[in-house]
Amino acid sequence: MSGKMNNCSYKNGGAPPKASKETSSCIIVVFGVTGDLARKKIIPALYKLFAMGLLNEKTRIVGIGRRNYDDIEYNEYIKSAVEKAGRHGESAAEEFVKINSYYGADFTVPGEYPGIREYLKKLAAKYKICDFLYYLSTPPANFEQIITSLHDSGLSRPDFLDVSCAGSFVRVVIEKPYGYDISSARALNEKVLSIFSEDQIYRIDHYLGKETVQNIMIFRFVNGIFEPIWNQKYIDNVQIKVFESEGIGGRANYFDRSGIIRDIIQNHSLQMLSLIAMEPSASNAPDAVRNEKLKVLQSIRPFDRAEPAKYLTAAQYSAGIIGGETVEAYNREKNIAAGSVTETFAAIKLFIDNWRWAGVPFYLIAGKRMPERLTEVIVTFKPAPHMIFNSLCNMSEPVSNRLVIRVQPDEGISLKIFCKRPGFETELQPVSMNFNYSGSFEAALPEAYERLILDALNGDATLFMRSDEIEAAWDYITPILQCLKNGEIELKKYAAGTPGPELCGFFGLNLC
Ligand SMILES: NC(=O)c1ccc[n+]([C@@H]2O[C@H](COP(=O)([O-])OP(=O)(O)OC[C@H]3O[C@@H](n4cnc5c(N)ncnc54)[C@H](OP(=O)(O)O)[C@@H]3O)[C@@H](O)[C@H]2O)c1
Repeated sequence: MSGKMNNCSYKNGGAPPKASKETSSCIIVVFGVTGDLARKKIIPALYKLFAMGLLNEKTRIVGIGRRNYDDIEYNEYIKSAVEKAGRHGESAAEEFVKINSYYGADFTVPGEYPGIREYLKKLAAKYKICDFLYYLSTPPANFEQIITSLHDSGLSRPDFLDVSCAGSFVRVVIEKPYGYDISSARALNEKVLSIFSEDQIYRIDHYLGKETVQNIMIFRFVNGIFEPIWNQKYIDNVQIKVFESEGIGGRANYFDRSGIIRDIIQNHSLQMLSLIAMEPSASNAPDAVRNEKLKVLQSIRPFDRAEPAKYLTAAQYSAGIIGGETVEAYNREKNIAAGSVTETFAAIKLFIDNWRWAGVPFYLIAGKRMPERLTEVIVTFKPAPHMIFNSLCNMSEPVSNRLVIRVQPDEGISLKIFCKRPGFETELQPVSMNFNYSGSFEAALPEAYERLILDALNGDATLFMRSDEIEAAWDYITPILQCLKNGEIELKKYAAGTPGPELCGFFGLNLC
């Protein structure tokens, strides 16, 4: 090997995922601990971190909810939540239960907070803990109220403990959706930033915790061969697809108010877009990375409401068949009004007006009740400038290379190239060069929430959205939402189980 080794660590496949250090002792307070997200993701993630020895042994987890759980019932609840996280030795679940406790309170009532404070104070004194991580896994309508009550009751500063806590931290993790449009996102930022400083706030978009999404930066900025062609000279277009085969499950009330643009595109799709399109950051420090992501969001050409159909198609699913089963139309789902005009599919064409991306269309496509669950980024390169085999090839598709970053499932990266089909004739055939996580690494990919909670405990905000990123994303999305709300564009229909409404040739892109 020529050249000197730098301080990067890299390993061959096979090693299990590792974190660099154990967290500091901390009380993690989960507001909304009895909710769907806490049960399915947050508690299992905390358990996995605990079982891997990544939580400090003094760490304590306090769940807050309004149900009347006694200790036995709560222990059962925690055990049932961790069951899905897999086994980590016979005693791990029993040991994990011991670091959990429950405080029953209605978190919308300010008068409950002195009680919460006394409870946390006693726990902190018993285990000599000064650090707090408040995780708001609550309905978004309660975020401001909880933040205000944390402040008013003194819980937002470690000095409520009445002991010397030099160097300790109080951090707050806030779930998505962060805001409903630009004005509510600004108002929420204003409130949260009036109480906590930016470096105490961890706004979650769990897509950023996915291994495959984190790998976008590694792929781009470690493999130097791609950088020279990662621009408008060589790239024809970029598609970012987030498809779900599921409908709305038990989240009808939330989804009907939200729609796919708020639920997926405003956060997950735009975050992936900024990683795909950002300039190399000066370092991997949180703000260096977030500064570059922000510039991408700020460079998106504003949505043109004068010609909405050129840049947007929106649709709602009607009845159809998925996996051999007939499924209801969206507006016949439980708790959805028959006249609902919420979009369950959207395709947006946008441009990033900067030197690197001038003229390159980006397509953000997201839908529910699609034929399959799939998230991928497809980068289509321009064809070779002159095709000397033109007369010989009989291709039904354009002769363009395609790089596909498969975020989920079947995580990996593939590059479509063309080769000569063996034989005496000169015939072209597309083939794929494939990298699969499952084939290259023995260990299962860590869950996004494990990585994100660990980062929040370690004070690393790189994978969390900063206030200005959130506002830039809402700035772009809000006029699209207004256009839909005002009926400025037709809401199309597509049968459940099909890949959305007809997009063939739409936006100048062949999406058939
Ligand atoms: N679920 C997901 O897959 C998912 C995915 C991404 C983001 N999120 C976000 O995560 C957050 C939580 O979602 P979720 O699906 O878990 O919601 P959820 O199932 O409705 O849970 C909300 C939690 O808050 C509690 N709660 C509500 N009002 C309360 C009050 N006044 N006092 C005390 N507790 C109260 C609920 O208690 P009860 O159990 O007593 O009702 C429950 O524990 C939301 O911001 C959501 O947008 C969820």
